[in-house]
Amino acid sequence: MSVYLGIDIGTSGTKTLAVREDGQILASATATYGLDSPHPGWSEQSPEDWWKATVKTVRSVLKEGKLKPEEVKGIGLSGQMHGSVFLDKSGEVLRPALLWNDQRTQEECDEIEKLAGGRRKLIGMVANPALTGFTAPKILWLRNREKRNFDRTVKVLLPKDYIRYRLTGEFATEVSDASGTLLLDVKQRCWSQALLSRLDLDRALLPEVYESEDVSGRLTKSVAGQLGLSEGVPVVGGGGDQAASAVGNGIVKRGVISATMGTSGVVFAHSDEVQIDPGGRVHTFCHAVRGKWHVMGVVLSAGGSLQWYRDEFAQQEAARAKRLKVDPYELLTEQAATAPLGSEGLFFLPYLTGERTPHADPYARGAWIGLSRRHGKSHLVRSVIEGATYAMRDSLEIIREMGIPVREIRVSGGGARSEFWRQVQADVYGNKVVTINAEEGPAYGVALLAAAGTGAYKDVVEACSATIRIVSETKPAAKGRKQYDAGYAIYTQLYGSLKDQFATIARHIGQT
Ligand code: XUL
Repeated sequence: MSVYLGIDIGTSGTKTLAVREDGQILASATATYGLDSPHPGWSEQSPEDWWKATVKTVRSVLKEGKLKPEEVKGIGLSGQMHGSVFLDKSGEVLRPALLWNDQRTQEECDEIEKLAGGRRKLIGMVANPALTGFTAPKILWLRNREKRNFDRTVKVLLPKDYIRYRLTGEFATEVSDASGTLLLDVKQRCWSQALLSRLDLDRALLPEVYESEDVSGRLTKSVAGQLGLSEGVPVVGGGGDQAASAVGNGIVKRGVISATMGTSGVVFAHSDEVQIDPGGRVHTFCHAVRGKWHVMGVVLSAGGSLQWYRDEFAQQEAARAKRLKVDPYELLTEQAATAPLGSEGLFFLPYLTGERTPHADPYARGAWIGLSRRHGKSHLVRSVIEGATYAMRDSLEIIREMGIPVREIRVSGGGARSEFWRQVQADVYGNKVVTINAEEGPAYGVALLAAAGTGAYKDVVEACSATIRIVSETKPAAKGRKQYDAGYAIYTQLYGSLKDQFATIARHIGQT
């Protein structure tokens, strides 16, 4: 039997899957860790925690799947994108990693735009504007604010690539995750020497770039022993969590789009050519499919908004869910379904951690707008679900505007679990939404990349068609579609009305 391991270094935990060549999942394990926020807007993690979680979950899937070391033929890595691990000359981590949702680098983003010769020139070099979560501004932040650490830094790695380094001893990345550093020439699929020179950054700080299916290194003897695997197992490039998840969802051809609501929400479209939004509102990154690209919009708190609601306002529902032994989200979506469509004029802006697409505003804040005495908990929770879904539509509209065909939307994550939220999505997007058999996300996608990259399939497109099929379909209802179109028109005006006040509030609390 040939088995492939997919390891995803997520924000809340690391998940490892053991997947058989035909796509069947043999075992799965997750190990969680925390996140530190030493200042408002900061978000950090210890790379050592990722490593410990990797060791634990790999050992656990081998045990659970009763796998023999020689059956594991390849490993794929995925992970939270944009994070930065700073290593010194002996490969030691210099400080906690700055994560994708860290918002401390607005000044460095402005600096990058200036050094690049303006926003248009920057987009011309790396296909994207500078955003606070991306890696390049983090490197400049280290240079500006922690000079001693910067001077000792010899390599900057993305989260999953740090794990690759621990597994193989190689400094390597792959095109999809590298795109989110803001230092990749996305069109040519190699580091942008033009931008590196303007930022006065040494190319040697960065690892080698591979295509996602390519073998980037092999398991070292000592690590193989620690994990219970054979020495020399190939580790393929893998993918940033979004591209990897898209592979796991079969988003590997034109017209098929995914809408994934985890903590963040992502609308992801495959593209055969490099297509760039001149406004830089959506990201254009290399896809994990060889020689292809993708366009993606990111809502920072989509499922995260409902998670916040559950934690802060739904203690009663959570206690009931515990008694009934059901997921609290099940009760919350049932409760939401009892409020009328549109929540009787109550709107929720899901900008609880600032927003990326389409506003790129670290100071944007969440808001309920339109509260009245008529509103109860069912309206509050429904408006959170509707607000998160409207935010996803913002990205979809830009993708449509760019002329990318939207034939089928594959939904996954929390927003796909209930029939109610699937219907809200179909109505808000004005498009059929479908779910597929594999609901395992990035870890599954990189296991397929490992299978393709070590010869089990011709390529990852073949791996997807052999393993992925549609299992449910939800069509938009005429009435829902009409009402949500009208609601969306109001929703899109609200950020514009509040933008200046959000900035004032950020100054008021010392966030800027
Ligand atoms: C993608 C992004 C997030 C992180 C964490 O651009 O920032 O999806 O990768 O999951």
